[in-house]
Amino acid sequence: MNSTFKSLFLLDKETVHLNHGSFGACPKPIFESLISWQKKIESNPAKFLAFDIYNHLEESRLSLSEYINCNKNDIVFFPNPSTALNTVIKSLDLKKNDEILTTNHEYGALDKTWNFICKKRESKYIKQKINLPLNSKEDFIKEFVKGINNKTKVIFISHITSPTGLIFPVEEVCKIAKENKIFCIIDGAHVPGHIKLDLKKLDPDIYTGACHKWMCAPKGTSFLYAKKNIQDDIDPLVISWGYDAEIPGISKFLDYHQWQGTNDPSAYLTLPDIIKFLNDYDWINVSKNCHEINIQAKELVGNSLNKKPISSNEFIGQMTSFEINCKYPIDLMKTFYEKYKLAVPIFQWEDKVLLRFSIQAYNSLDDIEKLIKIMKEMRL
Ligand SMILES: Cc1ncc(COP(=O)(O)O)c(C=O)c1O
Repeated sequence: MNSTFKSLFLLDKETVHLNHGSFGACPKPIFESLISWQKKIESNPAKFLAFDIYNHLEESRLSLSEYINCNKNDIVFFPNPSTALNTVIKSLDLKKNDEILTTNHEYGALDKTWNFICKKRESKYIKQKINLPLNSKEDFIKEFVKGINNKTKVIFISHITSPTGLIFPVEEVCKIAKENKIFCIIDGAHVPGHIKLDLKKLDPDIYTGACHKWMCAPKGTSFLYAKKNIQDDIDPLVISWGYDAEIPGISKFLDYHQWQGTNDPSAYLTLPDIIKFLNDYDWINVSKNCHEINIQAKELVGNSLNKKPISSNEFIGQMTSFEINCKYPIDLMKTFYEKYKLAVPIFQWEDKVLLRFSIQAYNSLDDIEKLIKIMKEMRL
């Protein structure tokens, strides 16, 4: 662990934590902000949850919108990206034989969401193969656009992929979608706090991001961005009081999605404190440093274990995946936790098994040395 930052986090000291990517980790000052909001709510729940909440949510949306460069009224909070995207995907007017173009690197729960909806609507989920190793943006685009035809109604793609941990060139993908008049949905679960996000510049139709991963927000803090002209087409996943609202707010988008009775909003309200925390600790530099450590770690693992990288460095942020020799990924992950006290995700991906490590402020190359030692011992 990196001693400068490790004391900031609540992570147990006995474990080597190399899996920030899956569920994040929350620093103490941010966790305290969460508890302080919970206490405020408990001091007068009836007033807070019925009246005060709207102004506080607006302040949070304002903070986040400045951080990701979009209008504060074009985002709403959701607990996780899957809930945000289920809301959008279930609202799409998909017809028989319409195609959704994606890649073979997408997040499993969202593959399942698309499979569910495609079965119902008789649409097709087309997974364009992006082969590894990925060595240039040009290779990526050349492969990806092969999947576009006149039936392609939606492009769905991760900005940073889950199993392979790669930064995909979504700027180019959004441009291509626009040129071909294809609805463009970006899954940016891993992006906020990891790489710069400028939604005005990127201009997708839909974007989701998790704040509880790389922005270190409390668990259950994510957002959905929707372009103004399509906001009215997104149905609420759960019908609540904002549907046919007695006192309509400034948009259906906010009425439908931002408030649901007694759902606990406290995690969302920490956003101004999170952004202050990131500024106070100069997180842009922290993240840059983590990226550099990750590139060194990628080389170290590759050289020590004689493993080929799955991409060139231009696709790498703070996560790296390697193919390993393993038949039972879940059993191996448990062995890592229980026997070696090391947290690292291991995925079945296509016909390969991948191990992905994440570098966050609390990590150092010592953690990677420990990982390499275990991988050598287990002949992975
Ligand atoms: C690429 C990607 N999309 C979406 C998600 C959403 O996660 P959840 O299951 O919490 O909604 C993740 C989580 O790791 C992810 O890696």
